[in-house]
Amino acid sequence: MDYEKRYQEYLTRVNHALDAACKEYLPEESEVCRAARYSLMGGGKRIRAVLVLAVCDMLDGCAEAAEQFAASVEMLHCYSLIHDDLPCMDNDDLRRGKPSCHKAFGESTAMLAGDVLLTEAFNAIAHTKASPEICVRAARALGMGAGSHGMVYGQELDLKYEALAATEEQLRLIHRHKTGALINAAVQMGAAAAQATEQQCRELEAYAYGIGLVFQIVDDVLDVVGTQEQLGKPIGSDSENGKTTFVTLFGTDGAMELAKKINDETCATLREEFGDRCAFLETLAKQLLVRSH
Ligand code: IPE
Ligand code: IPE
Ligand code: MG
Ligand code: MG
Ligand code: MG
Repeated sequence: MDYEKRYQEYLTRVNHALDAACKEYLPEESEVCRAARYSLMGGGKRIRAVLVLAVCDMLDGCAEAAEQFAASVEMLHCYSLIHDDLPCMDNDDLRRGKPSCHKAFGESTAMLAGDVLLTEAFNAIAHTKASPEICVRAARALGMGAGSHGMVYGQELDLKYEALAATEEQLRLIHRHKTGALINAAVQMGAAAAQATEQQCRELEAYAYGIGLVFQIVDDVLDVVGTQEQLGKPIGSDSENGKTTFVTLFGTDGAMELAKKINDETCATLREEFGDRCAFLETLAKQLLVRSH
């Protein structure tokens, strides 16, 4: 099946799972939950969710469990974006083409909307109709990717280095945590739904961190060369906040060349392990280089 069609099919399944999660975990009567829904259902590429479904598919896993995990990782990702936009962090007023959560609902409600999405993401995993072993594997993957060993630590480093000039090595460490770790969580949750072997998980981890780095390098480039209309978020945010990015270090062309090199290596390694079965994941990686939003 062609890539675009399959991506659309995955999106349909993810949006269905997210609708169900909203009904179950974000009741309308709560203002905080309305704010969470506003941010969660207002667009987004859903790349992490698609990764959960695609990895599970590649390994012939349980589609129903993967759909629930896909919704969970998007809830968690959305919480990270709401908090990332707060005045005390990146101070960005626009997200997914709409006022950021704190602009629409106020800071305290936005903070709690992030909190509820984080909490209910794990609740949703615990309620997944799958074996306890699969659910625990998924929860562990999300916890490792999101917390002190993953995204939160990356955000800590990202803020710490605002005032300092980061080296390439330090920047790779920041990107690996703030972006790569949650992408790896998504991939490992797909693997959990398919009860993948340790060897498969290791190969998939290399893929996830490879595309995670590429994804954040391209995000840094788009912050300079993109438009607000395309991205649905403000441009120039990084330089305004004094962040070192791959563009600061290598310029836009140099950063894109590096992203392409990392991507080629990542795809070659994936193909060695999975052969033709990895075609969708390979195309997804290549698409990250040409994305405009
Ligand atoms: C933005 O993530 C935050 C980064 C880690 C760069 P996405 O670019 O995946 O955002 P959405 O979900 O599509 O809005
Ligand atoms: C965000 O990185 C990483 C997160 C954990 C949310 P950015 O701060 O570069 O993401 P954008 O550009 O605001 O989407
Ligand atoms: Mg940030
Ligand atoms: Mg930001
Ligand atoms: Mg950015």
